[in-house]
Amino acid sequence: MSNTTRSALITGITGQDGAYLARLLLGKGYEVYGLAPRRSTDTSWRLRELGILDGVHMIDGDLADLSSLIRAMETSRADEVYNLGAQSFVGTSWQQPLLTADVDGTGAIRMLEAVRIVNREAHYYQASTSEMFGLIQADRQDENTPFYPRSPYGVAKVMAHWATVNYRESHGMHASSGILFNHESPLRGIEFVTRKVTHAVASIKLGKQKELRLGNIDSKRDWGFAGDYVEAMWLMTQQPSPDDYVVATGITVSVRDMCKLAFAHVGLNYEDYLVIDPKFMRPAEVDVLLGNPAKAKAKLGWTPHTPIEELVAMMVDADLRRLSA
Ligand code: NAP
Ligand code: GDD
Repeated sequence: MSNTTRSALITGITGQDGAYLARLLLGKGYEVYGLAPRRSTDTSWRLRELGILDGVHMIDGDLADLSSLIRAMETSRADEVYNLGAQSFVGTSWQQPLLTADVDGTGAIRMLEAVRIVNREAHYYQASTSEMFGLIQADRQDENTPFYPRSPYGVAKVMAHWATVNYRESHGMHASSGILFNHESPLRGIEFVTRKVTHAVASIKLGKQKELRLGNIDSKRDWGFAGDYVEAMWLMTQQPSPDDYVVATGITVSVRDMCKLAFAHVGLNYEDYLVIDPKFMRPAEVDVLLGNPAKAKAKLGWTPHTPIEELVAMMVDADLRRLSA
């Protein structure tokens, strides 16, 4: 590695955001290290699909294991650390609340400790979330809106968020928190509603599936494209001072209207295929999220580029391609 090559460590590199962020950083000339937990099956399909698997250095490690995080910091000699690893599915967090707290909450503190111990000059990014706003306390949520999490996942992420602020204030670390609203892509996990819908639409269009079963279709989300959102993560670590930023589109759309768009893209009417199934309802719901990204626009110069219509079309087309292959 030359003296000028910057090194980045990404936890959760095998996830949706990890893959897009790794591609972005490789494009900027970074040496990219990815921490990934040991699994019994291969989890690198996203890195493969983006054609970057050979370009990244994989490190075995887990946010539940501090020594592996210290080792990852030593091995990567990271100048920038992006903590994206998480049990990120809200629905599962009611089934596994302690694991979610340990990985998403305490795990962030372990990663901050590893940074503090090995190289406290490294710039740290925490993957915070609009789920922290939960039962919203303002019509448009920004950096000053109080949190009211509605799931064990949201609770764990509030802990990680405040830990990030606290390491900044206690240890003078360059630790920033990106409060990202929902962002999707063809690489989205199939359990999340947008991908569940686009995969079903493609499958129904190809005659492989008859119906789509969903829970609450009246909830609304501020949906953007993951490829746009990883740019905001990088911009945060480049700032002279660390801070917190809301990253969102400023537009909210219901699950129902998202479905309508996806089915219409292949010339179908969603009402002919959608079945409401109470199995997919949540014990406590986040009814609506709508972000105000004014600070990210003003200070980072960040803007989203992908409207929901384009995003949904991109996802349906990718699922059609995969299922036809
Ligand atoms: P994702 O696709 O679910 O990826 C999560 C990653 O974390 C996966 O690589 C996963 O590996 C890894 N991971 C799980 N448990 C781990 C552990 N114990 N130790 C280390 N890594 C672990 O999530 P994403 O959509 O890319 O989101 C990235 C981050 O942003 C997450 O922290 C998420 O909570 C947060 N976030 C996401 C959104 C969104 O809309 N996408 C919005 C706001 C915040 P395996 O696949 O092997 O389990
Ligand atoms: N997953 C899922 N499956 N959601 C459904 C379904 C279904 O069958 N039917 C309705 N929904 C509703 C959920 O109840 C929720 O209101 C909405 O669709 C979105 O659900 P998800 O796509 O699972 O995302 P999320 O908003 O709960 O969480 C995502 O965004 C957060 C940021 O706000 C995740 O990516 C989190 O990790 C992230 O922090």
